[in-house]
Formats: sequence, structure tokens, C-alpha cells
Amino acid sequence: MQSVGPVAVVTGSSRGIGRAIAQRLAQDGYRTVVNYVRNAGAARDVCAAIQAAGGQAIAVQGDVASANDRQHLLQVALDHFGRVDVLVNNAGITSPGRQDLLEVTEENFHLVMCTNLYGPFFLSQLVSRWMIQAIADEKIPRGIIVNITSLSAYTVSTNRADYCMAKAALHMMTHLLAARLAPHNIRVYEVCPGIIASDMTAPVREKYDRLIAEGLTPIRRWGEPEDVARVVAAVVKDDFDFCTGTRIDVDGGFHIRRL
Ligand SMILES: NC(=O)c1ccc[n+]([C@@H]2O[C@H](COP(=O)([O-])OP(=O)(O)OC[C@H]3O[C@@H](n4cnc5c(N)ncnc54)[C@H](OP(=O)(O)O)[C@@H]3O)[C@@H](O)[C@H]2O)c1
Repeated sequence: MQSVGPVAVVTGSSRGIGRAIAQRLAQDGYRTVVNYVRNAGAARDVCAAIQAAGGQAIAVQGDVASANDRQHLLQVALDHFGRVDVLVNNAGITSPGRQDLLEVTEENFHLVMCTNLYGPFFLSQLVSRWMIQAIADEKIPRGIIVNITSLSAYTVSTNRADYCMAKAALHMMTHLLAARLAPHNIRVYEVCPGIIASDMTAPVREKYDRLIAEGLTPIRRWGEPEDVARVVAAVVKDDFDFCTGTRIDVDGGFHIRRL
């Protein structure tokens, strides 16, 4: 077991926003657990990049929608690094086939809910139970959970109803966990990205290029995964200790209602 320094578990960190978060936290001194579901090679690349920069990381395969895999993820993190200080619930999928809500199937709805909502909820439950005991035993000074939501938590896309509903629920989940865990010295934050360049948004790149050029966001550019990662790195610092349940929009100003 390697036993120096705090540890961050970042779900879905083989690619996109999660990868940027893992690399940024590693740069800031976190030993990092790089979770992925399918792309072992991509996860290995992230670990190699972290190690090349002088950090420590391990790749752990696991589907956040699976109870066994969530248990395995925590266990490997503890076996390898001995502690978990930060959990970033980042893994997520878009709505399969982007079907109109009158056509969406129960199977697809179930898949999105299990991955984007049940996964983060039950992983947070598992990790926060461990953190509560570890804080009581003075193994870690405090705990932090960061939930990556989306502008879809409050913006309607009728062809991604399942995704919007899961993200809206994650907003409430942040408040619930924040209230329940505050007495245990565990802080919970929501980081709410706007339109970020990643594999998830690659299929709709041209549509958003046009909308952004037309002024969809006050700041007229795509967000980059690193924009989100810098904010996650900021909220896990001690500076935010008197904040919990807080949402931070990383969206070029998309959330501002304008006339
Ligand atoms: N991109 C945006 O514009 C945007 C905007 C708002 C919010 N978000 C949210 O930000 C998060 C990351 O999005 P992204 O754009 O970076 O996505 P992405 O490029 O599609 O990457 C998704 C990551 O999640 C992993 N993953 C997918 N399903 C998983 C599962 N069941 N268990 C564990 N890991 C899983 C993938 O692993 P593999 O490589 O193994 O497939 C990959 O590392 C998501 O929660 C998304 O909803 C994205």
C-alpha cells in the first residue's frame, strides 16, 4: 500500500471531463483512482500521464451502475492507497439515441437512471459511510464529494428527458448529502458544466458551434474539460470549508436568463 497524501476517486476518468479532473487533482497532490467502464487503454494512458508528471494513479474498471463494481472500486482504492478523501461523481452517459420523450423506451430510461443517478447516489452512500468512520478515527481530516451535473438539470431537451431528469435529481442529491453529512465534516458540491468539448458532445458539435456563434452563451466559446477540472480543484481546497450544497456553474454564463 502507498500511504502518503490524500486520495481522490474520479468516476469516468478515462476520457473527457473526468480525465481532466483526475489529472488536475493529481497535479495538486492527490493520489488518484482513475475509474472507467470499457476503455482500459484510455484509463492506462491517463495513469501514465499522471505518473510521468510525478503523480500516483491506478486504473480501476467498474460500472458505476453495478453495486458489485462500486464496492470493488472502493475496495481497490483502499487496498492500494489506504484512504479516500475526495469522491468525484463524474461518470455519465447521454440519452441513448436522443429519442423524443414520447418514444423513449423503459430500457433506455433505466440505463440512464442507473448510470447517472443510482450510481452516484449509492457510491456516495458507500464512500461517505467509510469517510464518516475514517474521520472519527482521524485517518482523514475531512471528506469531499463533488457531483458533476449539467445545465440539463434545469434546461429542457425533450429528446433527452431521462438525462435531464437524472441530472435534476443529482442537484437535489447534492443538497440531501450536504445536509446529512455536514455534521461529519464531509462537504458536498455540485459542479454544473455547460457545453463542454468531449466525446459526449462530438456528435452535436456543428449544432453547438452555430448556437454559440449566435450568442447562446455570454462567453462565446466551447468549454474545455480543463475549465471544469480547475473548478473541481478549487472546491476541494480548504478555502470552501464554510460552503456546502453549493452549485457552481461552469458554463460561460449559460444559466443567466436574458432578454
Ligand atoms: N460534455 C458536456 O458538454 C457535458 C455537459 C454537462 C455535463 N456533462 C457531464 O460530465 C460528465 C462527463 O462527461 P464527458 O462529456 O466527459 O463524457 P465522455 O467524454 O462521454 O466520457 C465519459 C466517461 O465516463 C465513463 N463512463 C461511462 N459510463 C460509465 C459507467 N457506467 N461506469 C463508469 N464509468 C463510465 C467513460 O468510460 P469509458 O472510457 O470506459 O467508456 C468515460 O471515462 C457526465 O456526467 C456528463 O453528463 C458533460
